[in-house]
Amino acid sequence: MNVRSELVEIATLHWHGFHLPAAADGGPHQPVAPGETWSPAFEVRQRASLFWYHSHAHQRAGPQVYAGLAGAIYVRDDESERLDLPNEYGVDDIPLVVQDRAFSSDGSFVYSASMHSRMMGARGDTLLVNGTVDSVFEAASDRLRLRVLNGSNARFYSFSFSDARSFHLIASDGGLLERPLHSKSVLLAPGERAQIVVDLSDGRAAELRARSAGNMGMGGGMMGRGMMGRERLDGGMGGGSDFGVLDILPGISRRRGASLPRQLVSLPAADASVAVRQRRFVLDMGMGMMGGFTINGKSMDMQRIDERVPMNEWEIWQIENASMMAHPFHIHDVQFRILDRDGKPPPAGEQGLKDTVVVNSRESVRLLLRFEDYADPDLPYMYHCHILEHEDAGMMGQFVVT
Ligand code: C2O
Ligand code: CU
Ligand code: CU
Repeated sequence: MNVRSELVEIATLHWHGFHLPAAADGGPHQPVAPGETWSPAFEVRQRASLFWYHSHAHQRAGPQVYAGLAGAIYVRDDESERLDLPNEYGVDDIPLVVQDRAFSSDGSFVYSASMHSRMMGARGDTLLVNGTVDSVFEAASDRLRLRVLNGSNARFYSFSFSDARSFHLIASDGGLLERPLHSKSVLLAPGERAQIVVDLSDGRAAELRARSAGNMGMGGGMMGRGMMGRERLDGGMGGGSDFGVLDILPGISRRRGASLPRQLVSLPAADASVAVRQRRFVLDMGMGMMGGFTINGKSMDMQRIDERVPMNEWEIWQIENASMMAHPFHIHDVQFRILDRDGKPPPAGEQGLKDTVVVNSRESVRLLLRFEDYADPDLPYMYHCHILEHEDAGMMGQFVVT
């Protein structure tokens, strides 16, 4: 990649979801100064899916992503291309990068730096899809594959169709699920992706909608259990808004009721017994004037390495949320598996490859992971909350792979 900055402030570009050397990661340790070009190189060694890139500038990720420093990346591979799935970019396979924004009367973005948006994350009242409002897609096929990225700073959304039609969930963050999953809604927190296939062979228009799911409150289950539509929607703080995402005009019906492959890929079983050690990460946010966004009691410090992780060893990372708000926890360089939520196995939609996981208030989530191929004793990767204002406020830590 050649990343050239024509900006007036220091920026970075991080390849979210990619397995890569720390020097190529694009986190806060790889700043790109105005007028400079940063040229990282890495081999793409992972399964096909929807990934993305975005600013990860130190304490500036929120405003920079909000202003536009983000985009989608398709990774393709032969295994997924052989499957009978919609696969033609722009024709029956389209990306939907979903981001909310607030506008001022002259049409420019308004990024609020108030205490409220620092606590709740920056939220707008207008939903953009691939940078546009009121998006319309004229389908040319009976099956349409939508690759949805929640690229918002802070909002969680539950996506569903206005006529309550069902669809198939086929992929999570890092690749295809083992089997298509029949669903009516899918919940995505910032950073998360999902791919769905919707059947349009009934010849009727379909409208994809996003309900902004509240993420405040005590007790487990506030954000439901991930992608199974069990989320409770909250009309209170930060919740309640209902947005149109995409109007889909049907194509000409040719293959009514076209079915999907029963099996998509096979994934190794997520077996906790292979782990040689466990680490614990406690997310918290003080409610005082300065917020106090911490992981294990510490706010992000670029000079401090929080964890040293040996390469090629399976580990369990236990993420606990001590705060009153749900946080999407993201880890660089790896696709992990979710072992359990409060001891219970995750729903089918969360059993595939993930790099970002919602941890609900007072919940404990165990992840199984292993870092491979790239060690660097000095240059760290990040783990953090993907509500960008929380990340900027310090809910982030650093680890090296050795
Ligand atoms: Cu998508 Cu560390 O970020
Ligand atoms: Cu990332
Ligand atoms: Cu958070």
